[in-house]
Amino acid sequence: GDVRLWGGRFADGPAEALARLSASVHFDWRLAPYDIAGSRAHARVLSKAGLLTQEELDRMLAGLDRLEASVADGSFTGTIADEDVHTALERGLLEQLGADLGGKLRAGRSRNDQVATLFKMYLRDHARIIGGLIAELQDALVSLAEAHPDVAMPGRTHLQHAQPVLFAHHVLAHVQSLSRDAERLRQWDERTAVSPYGSGALAGSSLGLDPEAVAADLGFEHGSAANSIDGTASRDFVAEFAFITAMIGVNLSRIAEEVIIWNTKEFSFVTLHDAFSTGSSIMPQKKNPDIAELARGKSGRLIGNLTGLLATLKALPLAYNRDLQEDKEPVFDSCDQLEVLLPAFTGMMATLTVNRERMAELAPAGFSLATDIAEWLVRQGVPFRVAHEVAGECVKVCEKQGIELDELTDDQFAAISEHLTPEVRTVLNVSGALASRDGRGGTAPSAVAVQLAEVKTDLALQ
Ligand code: ARG
Repeated sequence: GDVRLWGGRFADGPAEALARLSASVHFDWRLAPYDIAGSRAHARVLSKAGLLTQEELDRMLAGLDRLEASVADGSFTGTIADEDVHTALERGLLEQLGADLGGKLRAGRSRNDQVATLFKMYLRDHARIIGGLIAELQDALVSLAEAHPDVAMPGRTHLQHAQPVLFAHHVLAHVQSLSRDAERLRQWDERTAVSPYGSGALAGSSLGLDPEAVAADLGFEHGSAANSIDGTASRDFVAEFAFITAMIGVNLSRIAEEVIIWNTKEFSFVTLHDAFSTGSSIMPQKKNPDIAELARGKSGRLIGNLTGLLATLKALPLAYNRDLQEDKEPVFDSCDQLEVLLPAFTGMMATLTVNRERMAELAPAGFSLATDIAEWLVRQGVPFRVAHEVAGECVKVCEKQGIELDELTDDQFAAISEHLTPEVRTVLNVSGALASRDGRGGTAPSAVAVQLAEVKTDLALQ
């Protein structure tokens, strides 16, 4: 028979072209377990309101259990003719229970409040999954930092040598940004814990149902929607989720770009494990950082999902409009992409090897200790403006002679400035430069050790 939920006032069934356009079952089928959970909760409030007898409720719940099992084992699936997951599952319930009882469940609810609720439930589950995957990446990065407590590398600004930093310090910078992403997911989850169920199509229900009971049943810690119009029409929870996943992608892309650069012959800072690299079909010698490149590429896709969604929402009048069916595929895709990317990315970071000699060799290159000369002069009482000039003069002399700062002779130092006594050499080495930056957040081994301990405590608490 006709599976449509809205056939009553129509003389004809939908045109084939409409059915094909309208169908969402091929992508919203993943909401099926949530739809069934929602139906259970809804059946209970219908019964509480006296609209189902206890015996009907028991049969209804048993029918939903059987339907759930047949969805889980694949023996029941939605088809294009069902339009969407909600319609398909109603058909399934009617098959289980017959039309008399099966047809009672729809009272007091609409696909509009259903879909908003189920979508939140789905995304909340995936926020937790993605949060867990981020924690695993953070663990891998923390281990990488911990395994290299004393490796110096060239710290860069503008991709130019700036000042030496500890490799562990650099790696932990990425852990910090991932911590904020994980925090964003938790805060989003907190904000999203309000159930739209009971909002009906937009105006609420006249049947004396209890939206707060449904909310509690479905795990929405902050109860049910305060406004049924907002409950059915708002999708800022989707946009915010899309932003957070895009931000995660962008943060991964920044790590990825560095891995790609570090892995070049010219840098040779890291070597990727064979199991997390790919070869070339023509060049036998090739070993490529494809995981990092895919992370960089997928970050663009995640940004696209966010901007596409915002464009769908822009200027959309309240309450529900069918445009909103376009809200799911982008963020389902964002979940799918991150859930396949993060484990590979973590594996790549957990298994790469660090070329400590190469990093250490380049750490002082490019006159990266010039700031140390300037700050040493400041400690001798020289105004920073003058100290900056003097250190710059040192660099100029070195560049002209093709030497490094520590190769300047005592006479050359003295000729540049009377303040440059031979003691300046004490800061012209990487370990001294690192150790001197021992304030909170600095690159001294002691400060990085404090940071590492804090990060580990935070991660253990989550
Ligand atoms: N499949 C729709 C969606 O994903 C929900 C159904 C609401 N349809 C409707 N005509 N009111 O948004």
